[in-house]
Amino acid sequence: MLNSAILMVFLYSNFVSSTDIEDSTEFQEKIYKGKDVTRKGAYPYFCSIQIPNDYDVRPYEHYCGGVLVERNVMLTAAHCLINASLVSQFHNLPNYRHSRLIGKNDPIFKVENYVIHPDFLKQRPYSMHDIAVVLLDRPDTRPNARLQLASRRLPVDTKVKIIGFGITENTYLSEVLKEATVIIKDDKKCLDEKTGFEYAPIYNFCTQNSEGAGGCYRDAGDPAI
Ligand SMILES: *[C@@H]1O[C@H](CO)[C@@H](O)[C@H](O)[C@H]1NC(C)=O
Repeated sequence: MLNSAILMVFLYSNFVSSTDIEDSTEFQEKIYKGKDVTRKGAYPYFCSIQIPNDYDVRPYEHYCGGVLVERNVMLTAAHCLINASLVSQFHNLPNYRHSRLIGKNDPIFKVENYVIHPDFLKQRPYSMHDIAVVLLDRPDTRPNARLQLASRRLPVDTKVKIIGFGITENTYLSEVLKEATVIIKDDKKCLDEKTGFEYAPIYNFCTQNSEGAGGCYRDAGDPAI
């Protein structure tokens, strides 16, 4: 696993994943079209942010992704935190076994405090500063429970892994953590995509994958590694 990673905050609608490349080493993988994460101990820093669920036998449901950048500090998308009364009810489930189901003895983390980027929603495109820092109520003591942030913007054509529990091509939320390898595109191509998403050059990047794999609904806050 890479020890340096870039963290990308996915919006529900910011996936610009296309099928127009003919790379032969193709990625038959899923998140939306990703594949299940099976490697034991992979992605320990990934968190499922969960909210109360009144309509299901399970009391909590996956809402957004997040990433531990310190043992008690999580990054996620700002838009995941816009309802303060919901934030106070968050149950954050770190990735113990690639499942979003909360086990009886799983340590769950609550939000102690949080800061939304001060410029979020101040000017368009709103995707420019869609990021927030969350202080958890206590540290996650597991080894490797942190992801080191990238110190630079990754070049076009870099392969990154995206992971998450968002919807897939054939289920609603995925029960198992999914991953896919995607390739970073250049800003100009991202701007040319007609997705309805207001792409912010420099602040955002978009990706492609020949299978059409990408993040989707409820993948907000997920990392690209
Ligand atoms: C914010 O969350 C609370 C608690 O779940 C909910 O009752 C309320 O309707 C939400 N507000 C908005 C504007 O969605």
